[in-house]
Amino acid sequence: MTKLIQSYDLIGDIIIIRIPPEVYSKREIIAETLHTIYPWVRTIAAVPLYAHTDERYRTRDVQVIWGEEHLETMHRESGCSFKVDLKHVFFSPRLSYERMRVAQKVLPAETIINTFSGVGCFSILIAKLQPQTKIYSIDVNPYAYEYMKENVALNRVEGRVIPILGDASEELEKLEGVADRVIMPLPEYAHSILPLAVRALKSGERGGGVIHYYDVSAGRKDDDLCNVPLERAREIIASAFGNSLRLELEEKRIVRSVAPRRYHVVLDLRVAMEE
Ligand SMILES: C[S@@+](CC[C@H](N)C(=O)[O-])C[C@H]1O[C@@H](n2cnc3c(N)ncnc32)[C@H](O)[C@@H]1O
Repeated sequence: MTKLIQSYDLIGDIIIIRIPPEVYSKREIIAETLHTIYPWVRTIAAVPLYAHTDERYRTRDVQVIWGEEHLETMHRESGCSFKVDLKHVFFSPRLSYERMRVAQKVLPAETIINTFSGVGCFSILIAKLQPQTKIYSIDVNPYAYEYMKENVALNRVEGRVIPILGDASEELEKLEGVADRVIMPLPEYAHSILPLAVRALKSGERGGGVIHYYDVSAGRKDDDLCNVPLERAREIIASAFGNSLRLELEEKRIVRSVAPRRYHVVLDLRVAMEE
């Protein structure tokens, strides 16, 4: 039970709980217990511990086990409001620290590309903290795009966050040379479009910028889990650009654990053009 209590997320007025197979039959009792702790909650939904995740949209099989059969809610985070539908879009409140960490690095008047923006959380938070920024905010999921547009209006960041429905690789090609910063929060896929992200950075004498590059790493938590992703990033960039770029690691961190001995990590890479 202690383990269960640690494995739920409160998103707006919905609780999402990850239930291990051995106690799945007790899901209704678990839901009743949670409801006594959070009486204002409208819906409690379960995700079986090893539930299928949609490879493209990163949505999961969510089943309502208590309350209303409705998975749309409004979540408040860091002074922003995010409307989400947990059946149709990816959303995790566990990324709130990471979103704030990245947002606090942004300088005034930067142009940013968020390649996998979901309902717009990183982009909207950045636009609120740094009102002079412009953020191209891409997602391929039509539901995420619709919610992103709504969230942009809700948070009054129209014109600063530009929602784009499309595939990140195709959209990055159209945005060559425009960005000071690229955010790539899809750890399973970011490596395959890293050269496009580099090309999207500003070019020329004062060119280059920062890429927040996410990857998956396997091992123990006390190993240096960022080494293999960093080597992979260096190899990808070297094979695409040879020695024409300089790569510096500004910060690295484990973002979260996603399975036993499997972690999402982030590397903040500063890319500079060699003289
Ligand atoms: C892990 S979620 C991103 C979460 C988001 N950054 C946040 O803070 O909530 C990954 C997102 O990437 C989108 N996605 C997957 N493949 C994509 C692609 N090729 N181009 C653009 N978006 C893609 C998914 O639809 C999903 O919304």
